[in-house]
Amino acid sequence: VTAWLHVVGIGDDGLGGLPPRLRRLVESADLVVGGKRHLAMLGDLPVERLLWRTPLIDTLPEIRRRAGRRVVVLNTGDPMWYGVGELLCRELAPGEIEVHPAPSAFSLVCARLGWSMREIATISLHGRPVERLRRVLAPEARIVALSTGPETPGAVARLLVQAGYGDSRIWVLEHMGSERERRIEGIARDWSEPPVADLNTVAISCVAEDRTPRGTAPGLPDEAFRHDGMLTKREVRAITLARLMPMPRQLLWDVGAGSGAVAIEWILASGHGRAVAIEREPARVAMIRDNAEALGTPELEIVEGTAPDALNGLEPPDAVFIGGGVGEVLARCHEALRPGGRLVANVVTVEGEQALASWHARRGGELVRLQVARARPVGRLRGWRPLMAVTQYALVKR
Ligand SMILES: C[S@@+](CC[C@H](N)C(=O)[O-])C[C@H]1O[C@@H](n2cnc3c(N)ncnc32)[C@H](O)[C@@H]1O
Repeated sequence: VTAWLHVVGIGDDGLGGLPPRLRRLVESADLVVGGKRHLAMLGDLPVERLLWRTPLIDTLPEIRRRAGRRVVVLNTGDPMWYGVGELLCRELAPGEIEVHPAPSAFSLVCARLGWSMREIATISLHGRPVERLRRVLAPEARIVALSTGPETPGAVARLLVQAGYGDSRIWVLEHMGSERERRIEGIARDWSEPPVADLNTVAISCVAEDRTPRGTAPGLPDEAFRHDGMLTKREVRAITLARLMPMPRQLLWDVGAGSGAVAIEWILASGHGRAVAIEREPARVAMIRDNAEALGTPELEIVEGTAPDALNGLEPPDAVFIGGGVGEVLARCHEALRPGGRLVANVVTVEGEQALASWHARRGGELVRLQVARARPVGRLRGWRPLMAVTQYALVKR
């Protein structure tokens, strides 16, 4: 099969910046698909054009109808990096499609600022909440963020100030690669909201105000979360996440999520992992939402409802955490797990422990008891204040 669909990455310098081979491909196309900006680059070229709709998937039937003809989809930069190539490659067979990348906005920023691509965190705020930025904030981090538009740099500056990163340096890079290229630079705290072009990318060199870093390993301090006591405490949470084994692109169900801490740390640790928090108390659902935003994981999906019914219709998980109340939920979750999936259940009650012990007897797995005590003042001296003992059951589904 030869490809009929060509996804051509294009820079802000338009057709003139394409290598001759790709330029010919565009000029000889039966149909060129793109956004407004891309189609404008065609000038008076005599080709049929189609403006894509948002979401792009709505335009797919029309593109498919041209199968066998020569179709070109124009896309900014690297179509496989926050671009339409990602969706099109998922939807079409490998032989049908060919992708021709141009340098991405990330590459262009690194080239302009002399930064190493290996050392930057890349993130898209294009049509996404600015809170996402929080998850990549770290005292010395360099971040490159794609923008939605002219409002993004100001929103980034405000978020940096709120997050205790007001001393960070910001660069706004407009229209990289074209004659209109321009750069604005400043400190987040002093950002004066200068007018910014629609097409811009933001680079950040992070400077943290206080020196209490938040690391990337699970087990964030309990104070990092808003909670009403229903929180898997730091020490137990770290062990719990280790047993859940966060992995890229995998899905966690956090059943009875409380404050959402386990689901949030799963997303933070897994790199492109996904999580669903299932919680029945509306007040806790609100806390989960706040925590997810505050920690930079606003994409956490929240299901308000009672398990096991609330689990109906959810995509099968790669890991399940049951933070309280086992009973029939355990069987239902085990059944839903994908092969190789991890099940971890923590309980603090005698009844819960009985349920886990009988599962363990029938199904194997690991049963451990976690007893943590924290040193606290006793008058002028210190004594051990024990936390409730947690019985933890863990199983890998074969
Ligand atoms: C949907 S993303 C596309 C990213 C693209 N796939 C890439 O590799 O650059 C669109 C965002 O990329 C950024 N961008 C792309 N090209 C740019 C350029 N030449 N100058 C400044 N920003 C650019 C802007 O932040 C814009 O909102």
